[in-house]
Amino acid sequence: MTKSALQIARAAYQPKMPEVLKKNLRLVEGTPTESVSDRDDIKRLFPNTYGMPILTFEEVQESVCFEKTNVGVILSGGQAPGGHNVISGLFDGLKRFNADNKLYGFLGGPSGLTDHKYIELTPDIIDEYRNTGGFDIIGSGRTKLEEEKQFEQGREICQRLGIQTIVIIGGDDSNTNACVLAEYYKAKGYGINVVGCPKTIDGDLKNEMIETSFGFDTACKVYSELIGNIQRDANSAKKYWHFIRLMGRSASHIALECALQTQPNMAIISEEVLANKMTLGQIVDDICRVIVRRGNAGQNFGTVLVPEGLIEFIPAIKSLIAELNDMLADSTEFNSLPSDEAKREFVVGHLTEESRDTFLSLPVGIARQLSLDRDSHGNVQVSLIETEKLLIDMVKQRLAELKEAGEYKGKFSALSHFFGYEGRCAVPSNFDTDYCYSLGYTASLLALNGKSGYMSSVRNLSKPVSEWVAGGVPITMMFNMEKKSGKMKPVIQKALVDLDGNPFKFFSENRGKWGGVDSCYLYPGPIQYFGPSEVCDMPSKTLILEHK
Ligand code: FBP
Repeated sequence: MTKSALQIARAAYQPKMPEVLKKNLRLVEGTPTESVSDRDDIKRLFPNTYGMPILTFEEVQESVCFEKTNVGVILSGGQAPGGHNVISGLFDGLKRFNADNKLYGFLGGPSGLTDHKYIELTPDIIDEYRNTGGFDIIGSGRTKLEEEKQFEQGREICQRLGIQTIVIIGGDDSNTNACVLAEYYKAKGYGINVVGCPKTIDGDLKNEMIETSFGFDTACKVYSELIGNIQRDANSAKKYWHFIRLMGRSASHIALECALQTQPNMAIISEEVLANKMTLGQIVDDICRVIVRRGNAGQNFGTVLVPEGLIEFIPAIKSLIAELNDMLADSTEFNSLPSDEAKREFVVGHLTEESRDTFLSLPVGIARQLSLDRDSHGNVQVSLIETEKLLIDMVKQRLAELKEAGEYKGKFSALSHFFGYEGRCAVPSNFDTDYCYSLGYTASLLALNGKSGYMSSVRNLSKPVSEWVAGGVPITMMFNMEKKSGKMKPVIQKALVDLDGNPFKFFSENRGKWGGVDSCYLYPGPIQYFGPSEVCDMPSKTLILEHK
C-alpha cells in the first residue's frame, strides 16, 4: 500500500488510554442494574443477562493471568472513524495477556459470522490499519442477527475456531441484537460470550453510561471544517445562500454539533420541529425571516443547516410516509403500473384527505421520491430525499410573495450541499483515536474475564484521557420496549436531541445573534493531529456542554 506522509506519521501514534488499563488490574462489580423501563418484560425476555452489575477496573499489585482465548470481531452498519482502532485495541489487549490468543475478523459485517467468512487478524494486518479511518480491514454490512438459524450458524463457526467471545461493533440496533445473541448462547450453555461496542457517527447511541458513540467527534469535525470553508466563501463573495444537509438518519445531534462549531445563520433541529408540531410551511417561514432580515440590510448570503432526518419529524409528512409505507409495501397493483404519472394518480387516489393535501403540496420530484424510491422492505428511503432542495424551492416561492408584498428587498440565489460520506471514513481525530483504542482494549478485558451481554464503556470523556473510566455496562440496562413492525420488542432507547440539555440551550440562546445582520461565523479549520492540546485533543462541543 502506498502511504501519504500523514498516514506514515499517524501510524507511529501511540493512542492514549486510561491509566488503570496499563496496570495489573481486576474487575470490580457494582450493584445489580435495572432496565430504563418495562422492567418486568425485559427481565422475562432476558433471564440470563438481566440485572447484571456495572463493571469497572481497579489496580492490583499481583500480576494477572487469564486462560488462552480466541475472539471474533464484527463491524456492523455504517462506517464511523475509529473502527480500526477498536480492533487494534482489542488485539493488543488480547495479546498482552497471552501471545497465543487469537483474534478473527468476520468479513463484510454480521453476514461474515453466518456465512463463515473470516480472516485471522495478524500483527502485520493490524499494524497496517492502526489510527486510520474506514472499516476496510474486514468490511462492514447491515445484515441483522435476529433469527435462531443465524445464531446457530454463528455457534458452528465459533466452535470450529475455538472462539469464546464475539465482539460486535455497531449502533443501537446491532447492540440490541448483540444482547439477544448473548442471551441465546447463555440460555443454551454454549460457552460463547457476546460483547458490544458503541459505534455510529449519528451520536444517537448514548445514555447515562455511554457518553458518546465513536465516530461522531471526527465526522462532525470534518463537516464543520467544510461548513466553515463555505461560510468564509459566502462571506467573501456575498452572493449565495448555502443550504447544507447533514447526515444523521434520525436524530439531529450532528446538525446541532456542527451549528455549535460553526455558528451558521440558521440550523434546523428536527426534535424541536416535532416538539412544536411545525409544518413545512412554518419551517420555510422561519428560514425566510432570517433571509429577509439579512437581505433587507444588503446581506444576500448565509448558511442554513438541515438535518438529514428532518422530513420524518414534520408531523404531516410523518403521517404521509406511514400511509405510503402501508399502502405500497406489498402493492402488486402499484408496482405493475406502467408510468410514474399512473403511479402518482394511484397514490393520490388511495391517501386520506389530509395526507393527500400534504402529498400534493410537495414539489413533484420530492413526491416522486417519497412514493417511488423504496428500500428492500418497501419503506421510503428517507436518507435519499433531498430536503435541502425542497426547502430552497419553497423558500424561493415564499420570498417572491414577500417581494410582491414589498416586505423583501434582497436577492436570493441558493446552492445546495449534502455532507455525509465525506466524514464517515476520515482519519480519526485524536479523541476518536484514543477513545476507540480504549473501547477495544476494554472489550478485550471483558472477553478475558468471560463477560457476556455487556457493552464496552469508557466514561468521564470530557476529562484528560488518564482520568477516563473504563468498564462494562449490561446492555439490558439500556433497554425499553418499543413497537417495531407491529410487535413490541426490547430495544436500546435511541437518544434524540434533548431540548432541555445544555447543547440545545446554548444553541437556542445564541441562534438569534447568529441569524442577525452581522454574521458570527466560526471557522474551525481541518482536524489537527499534532500541535497544541487545545487545538488537537478537544472533544465535541456537545460532550463538553453536556458535562458542564
Ligand atoms: P449507522 O447508524 O449504521 O452507524 O449508520 C449511520 C448512517 O451514516 C446515517 O447517518 C445514514 O443515514 C446512513 O448511515 C446511510 O447509510 P448507507 O451507508 O447504507 O447509505
